[in-house]
Amino acid sequence: MHEDFTATACKFALMKKILFFFFPALLLFLLTSSFFEKEYVEIKTKAALGKKLFSERILSKDSSISCASCHIPRFAFADTVAFSVGIGGKLTTRNTPSVLNMKNRPYYFWDGRAGTLEEQALMPIQNPDEMGLPIEEAVLRLNKSREYRLLFQKIFGQKPTAQNLAAAFSAFEQTLETVDSKFDDWSNDLKKLTAREEKGRQLFLGDKAKCFDCHRMEDFTTDEFKNIGLYNGKELPDAGLFNLTKKEADLGKFKTPGLRNVAVTAPYMHNGMFKTLEEVLDYYNDPKKIVIDPLNIDETLKEPPGLTDAEKKGIIAFLKTLTDKKYIRRQ
Ligand code: HEC
Ligand code: HEC
Repeated sequence: MHEDFTATACKFALMKKILFFFFPALLLFLLTSSFFEKEYVEIKTKAALGKKLFSERILSKDSSISCASCHIPRFAFADTVAFSVGIGGKLTTRNTPSVLNMKNRPYYFWDGRAGTLEEQALMPIQNPDEMGLPIEEAVLRLNKSREYRLLFQKIFGQKPTAQNLAAAFSAFEQTLETVDSKFDDWSNDLKKLTAREEKGRQLFLGDKAKCFDCHRMEDFTTDEFKNIGLYNGKELPDAGLFNLTKKEADLGKFKTPGLRNVAVTAPYMHNGMFKTLEEVLDYYNDPKKIVIDPLNIDETLKEPPGLTDAEKKGIIAFLKTLTDKKYIRRQ
């Protein structure tokens, strides 16, 4: 009888254990693993992994900043300030450009100091003003994460390394091409431009405004380095390409930016000094009115074009047709 009682009590205790411990533990395990599996299954390509890493804060020293903190997707992968905030509240020394339409660029950064997207991607992680983390440490952190170990293994057949990390970023950025704007519809005979946009298009292409001299090709850039007069060695101190080459002829030259989605990526220029497209057009219309003593300004811009207000408005209306429909409601 006594033995029986003990046996029943033991059984009961076991059942209780199963009910109160094993069961919830099993349920939790099933839930989390299926949750994890779901996300894990969705990430199948280098580009999808790159997309996840683009928002990954553990790649910054204090785990506070990701690429997407400055290249904000809804602002066409740029942001809305002249200089962006990196780790510890530090400001970048240049304006954050959009990373849309990077696929066909021959080099990256305002001064072209990176030759490929792979080379570029590891630079902001290490830059003390941006994410401030040595690459070895970044790779170590990824290797410590079970999720990333599995993902890299699945996609690259390797554990995380600096090379495959860079390859994932590059693959993601190469998917960020925008070719669905009103301008593209017009090019494909699907839509008409308004009279003002058409006038702006002609001015943009023509000899009076000369925009097309530098902003040509499918993304509206020749990818050349030019000096449009925003360097005077004083309150405009950034010498651009010269800092790399030390050639006098390169003083104040910056990479000509593409103009797709430009209506969404204010403020403008390497130093974010113009808040609106109106300010940009006022500048091009009479550069010396805004910077009186530019050094090494491009020949093309020496004579003010003398655009009327209506003409400036037309060019702006045309620039707005270059916005991909994804971003259109932000204009
Ligand atoms: C703290 C803000 C900040 C963070 C974080 C940041 N960037 Fe940038 N990014 C910038 C700035 C500023 C520039 C321009 C710097 C220059 O040209 O000297 C830039 C330039 C670039 C360019 C070149 C664009 C062009 O037009 O040539 C690419 C590509 C890019 N970043 C990708 C990334 C990736 C990938 C990450 C994450 C690994 C990242 N950025 C993190 C601010 C940031
Ligand atoms: C001589 C070559 C050249 C000509 C001509 C030119 N641009 Fe530019 N444009 C550039 C360069 C280079 C920059 C970047 C300069 C800098 O940051 O210092 C730039 C910057 C811009 C920007 C800012 C883009 C951004 O993302 O910050 C806009 C907008 C722009 N140009 C529009 C125009 C328009 C409109 C015209 C015609 C009225 C024009 N450009 C004529 C070379 C040129």
